[in-house]
Amino acid sequence: MVVRASAYADELVKTAKTIASPGRGILAMDESNATCGKRLASIGLENTEANRQAYRTLLVTAPGLGQYISGAILFEETLYQSAVDGRKIVDILGEQGIVPGIKVDKGLVPLAGSNNESWCQGLDGLDAREAAYYQAGARFCKWRTVVSIPNGPSELAVKEAAWGLARYAAISQVAVAGLFLACIINHPPVEIIDIDNNNVRQDNGLVPIVEPEILLDGEHGIERTFEVAQKVWAETFYAMAENNVMFEGILLKPSMVTPGAESKDKATPEQVAEYTLKLLHRRIPPSVPGIMFLSGGQSEVEATQNLNAMNQGPNPWHVSFSYARALQNTCLKTWGGAPENVKAAQDALLLRAKANSLAQLGKYTS
Ligand code: 13P
Repeated sequence: MVVRASAYADELVKTAKTIASPGRGILAMDESNATCGKRLASIGLENTEANRQAYRTLLVTAPGLGQYISGAILFEETLYQSAVDGRKIVDILGEQGIVPGIKVDKGLVPLAGSNNESWCQGLDGLDAREAAYYQAGARFCKWRTVVSIPNGPSELAVKEAAWGLARYAAISQVAVAGLFLACIINHPPVEIIDIDNNNVRQDNGLVPIVEPEILLDGEHGIERTFEVAQKVWAETFYAMAENNVMFEGILLKPSMVTPGAESKDKATPEQVAEYTLKLLHRRIPPSVPGIMFLSGGQSEVEATQNLNAMNQGPNPWHVSFSYARALQNTCLKTWGGAPENVKAAQDALLLRAKANSLAQLGKYTS
């Protein structure tokens, strides 16, 4: 059997390399409306579209953000949204030299037959949604599933997480649907003729970010996190290979290897770096262009220090960040919903973005 490569293969590699470029990382600003509501509530604001628009306008218009940020992950609402001044958010990102991305998973639901664990929904209709997102300007996408250490993880939960990520990654790179889907969404993507079957097919051309988040919760030590992470990444790469995912055209979003949040042990940045790099060397092929860590509830400074420690020597991949909370926490608080605080809030965002940019280069000093 000959496996067809994506019509976008070159573009996928180019997009992934652009995002994984020296001194830059990803701003995750793809909180669902429900999660964004919690963030807004923390500063006493109502969860209205206008408030979400005001906050996201503040983020994307921070002057010079593109020097440190290569990609921004958006929630669907933001991909189609305009900024407060009427310009499209995706156009503002383009002007800043930031590649727009899109969260495509549909969130977590209980996994029947497991130990109170969850699985991630969103494969149904993914083809058509992704084709439309590409047309709207997205060039990469994200699927976040989670694995819980205190609840297991069970074999079932790990296998399900890996398989879902692999199916999503394959669909994002090379779709198998025909012209039919393109007609439904009324945005014909690239069409190519499949000579064997004489079908017209479409490809989606989005670089998939593969994110099996190993939750920080728990009292376990760093060794246990390391053991679980090895298992999760082994399964994920096995499933991705089975699904013919092109590793040069993906990005990873792992959790760092740390003790559980309630563990009595604390790890230094050097210990986190040692365990995390050992994991990456054992499990991640060098063809993968970028490892873009999530912050997962670490403090802003901790997330920067840990990243910096991982970049003290050469790595086969670009080792960088895709933080939400560790880039936004102070920015959000500083803004507090007041127009007169926008500049100070943008400065707070730029401060974290610059610190993480330096950490990507291994040059951060606190
Ligand atoms: P945190 O950096 O807040 O963990 O968010 C990561 C994430 O997955 C959002 O895209």
